[in-house]
Amino acid sequence: MSPDVLEPGTRRALSTGSQSGRAPGYWAHKRPILGNPACQARAPLSPAGPELVAGQAGRLDADKHENDPELEAIRRDRGYSWMDIVTICKDQLPGYEDKLDADKHENDPELEAIRRDRGYSWMDIVTICKDQLPGYEDKIKMFYEEHLHLDEEIRYILDGSGYFDVRDQEDKWIRISMEKGDMITLPAGIYHRFTLDEKNYVKAMRLFVGEPVWTAHNRPADHFEARERYVKFLAQTA
Ligand SMILES: [Fe+2]
Repeated sequence: MSPDVLEPGTRRALSTGSQSGRAPGYWAHKRPILGNPACQARAPLSPAGPELVAGQAGRLDADKHENDPELEAIRRDRGYSWMDIVTICKDQLPGYEDKLDADKHENDPELEAIRRDRGYSWMDIVTICKDQLPGYEDKIKMFYEEHLHLDEEIRYILDGSGYFDVRDQEDKWIRISMEKGDMITLPAGIYHRFTLDEKNYVKAMRLFVGEPVWTAHNRPADHFEARERYVKFLAQTA
């Protein structure tokens, strides 16, 4: 089964799940994912739910938005007296990337705040590349075996890049591109795997709540309580 590939830089896609599936509950820095218990402070939807005013077959002509009688009629009828225009794209929206500054990870108040708020008391830094990781070939194979942990897996990419693959609610793979400045938290019980990309190099900070336990339980590992809890969480967000 081939994973859905999210290209580097597509942070929005990363935080909202893939086009093919619902969010699995992972958390990427500053981009809370739908349904994650860590991100429940979202504004509720209107009780009436969303409404498509114009679109699909009855699309407005955006090229004449400055002088469009149809748009004017909607604004008049619905009392939309105020308007402005915003541009959301990488080059024009401040803070779009929302990455941490990996170059200052040794003394970064933003990183410290995340660690404090989420209780990430333990950390170390690992480098995964052929020349620096003993048992490289075996470890690369092990990282790419589908597995879960009984605790959160937290990674902050300081240099290089790689991919985390996680299972969505329909058990399909979602591929998450991770590069310098990205931090991700995989909840306990989520099936996942990791691989390098063509650069064959990543340097990452590993964070942990309390004393680290790195045990990977290869699939099938459905009998663990952490897995049962995660499946229940998925069901609640369906
Ligand atoms: Fe893992």
